Formats: sequence, structure tokens, C-alpha cells
Amino acid sequence: MNNITNLNNPFGIGKQLVFATTPSGQTVITINNQQASATIALQGAHLMSWQPVDAEAVIWLSADAKLAPGKSIRGGMPICWPWFGAHATEPAFPAHGFARTADWDVIASASLPGGTTEIIFELALANNALTQWPNPTSVRYRITVGKTLSMELITHNTGPTAITISEALHTYFTVSDVRKISIDGLDGCHYLDKVDEMKERQQSGAVTFAGEVDRIYIDSEDDCIIHDPALSRQIRISKTGSRSTVVWNPWIEKSIQMGDMGEVGYLNMVCIESANAADNSITIPAGGEHRLTVNYSVERA
Ligand code: BG6
Repeated sequence: MNNITNLNNPFGIGKQLVFATTPSGQTVITINNQQASATIALQGAHLMSWQPVDAEAVIWLSADAKLAPGKSIRGGMPICWPWFGAHATEPAFPAHGFARTADWDVIASASLPGGTTEIIFELALANNALTQWPNPTSVRYRITVGKTLSMELITHNTGPTAITISEALHTYFTVSDVRKISIDGLDGCHYLDKVDEMKERQQSGAVTFAGEVDRIYIDSEDDCIIHDPALSRQIRISKTGSRSTVVWNPWIEKSIQMGDMGEVGYLNMVCIESANAADNSITIPAGGEHRLTVNYSVERA
């Protein structure tokens, strides 16, 4: 039996949840139910698309995104774990941690009574991950696909001493034109400005975009709303267990340097990341767990 049969047999659900292999040998999960459709790469448990049946695509994936072993996919929803951004002391360790390029196992799937589809992953902590993170930890990630897209990232400290993590669901949202949207929900919050030497500033009113934006909003737990009048929609982001919000658009020069943003791709995306970063890093006592939950829904404007 090949790997796909090993996955489809226990976890496939008719045409609702199907595992397939791409020409480059990567495993992709396609979910289709009466409420929505989604695709997820098994590597990184990386959601690449989500589209409610009566709405346009919500998640942005670069036209130049590469689906290859050990590479982070540009777009979708990378999981940043167990650190967000650069590692605090080891510059050679990968930015945003290793979970987004690691192997994950599927441990359960279900068609739920309300018509949604759930899949649960477990991070396979092996080899180089263990040299970068030698702490006994179990990490599970649940995605529920429906009219609302829900995620839960659960970190369980199975070791004898406390651990500290930072993390984010680093979601790229599709927007009509980033220059014409605004983000509500961060008014009055303090943020660290990554494009200005991490200076601390305070948000006043909605967030708008006229150049590169890279900010960690501290102690920001309210819903965020992406207002996109040209698409006549709002995307609502609600969360629990997440005390920071990262807002990012690389603008043109950085996009060119990055090389995988697609031509003018930056105009059609914005990252609103539900995170625990910087001062909001999470310490989990021995035997304890932390749950980060995030929900996305589309509202007609
Ligand atoms: C954001 C960071 O979360 O991710 C940015 O705040 C970073 O500084 C961006 O550039 C993309 O990171 P990466 O590693 O996917 O290129």
C-alpha cells in the first residue's frame, strides 16, 4: 500500500475529504462539503485555500508559491511554532520555527453533524527539530472547514520543566487592493514597529496601507475585521488564547527581494496573524497545555 492509500483508508471521507499526491510528491488534502472547500498541504499542516460556497476565495496563495520538501509555502496559513520571527539566541535556526516545514501526521478526521469537516494533525517532532527544540512537547492542530473556518493549535508540555513558546497562525488573506482596505479591532493598541527598529507606537483608528507594514500588536485580543469595500465583504477574525496580532504587508521592494510573491502579489494580500509574540510569549508549566483558537468568517458589507 502506498502512503496515499494509508491515509485515504483510515482518514478519507468519500468525496468530502481526499488525500492526493502532487507531481512533486507532496501530499495535499482536499475538503469539499456543503458549506465550503479547502486544501491543506500535509507538510506543515499548511492550509492553502478556503472558500465558503457563497463567497469568493478568502485565503491568498502566491502564484509563485512552491510546494517542495522543507520549503515554506508563500501564502495560505503557515504555522509559526515554537518561536515567532527570528530565534532569540540562534540566528541559524529557521525564522518562525520549524513547524511550518515539518512533517505532521494525520490522527483523526470526521464529518461533523452540522455539515462541517474536521481534520486533526500531530507534529512529528523528529531529527533536526529535536536539536532545535529538545523539550518533550506534543503539538496538535485541528482545522474545521465550514462557513466558518476554525483552527485550534494545542501545545502540551509533556516534560518535567516549564517551557516558553511564541507562535502564530500566519494567515495571508486575499484582498481586492491592499491600498483600499482597512482593519478594525486594533485602535488604541500598542505595537512594536518592525520597519522602524522595533519602536513602540500606539494605533489610532483603523489600520490602512500606503507602504510596508510589519507590526506586532501587543495585548490585542479583540476581533479584527478586514473591510474590503471593492469585494463588498468583511472578513472577521476572532480568537482565544492569542494575546498578540501581527499585521504585515511587505510592499514592493521586499516582495521583489523575497522572489516568491508573484508579480504585484503584495497588492492582493494582507497578513493578519493571530499570535503570542514578544512580551506575549507563553510559558507552559510542566504537564500544562496552551490552546490558540482562531475563527474566520465572511460577512457581506
Ligand atoms: C511576518 C513578519 O510575520 O512574516 C515579517 O512579521 C516577515 O517580518 C514575514 O517578513 C514573512 O516571513 P517569512 O519567513 O515567511 O518570509
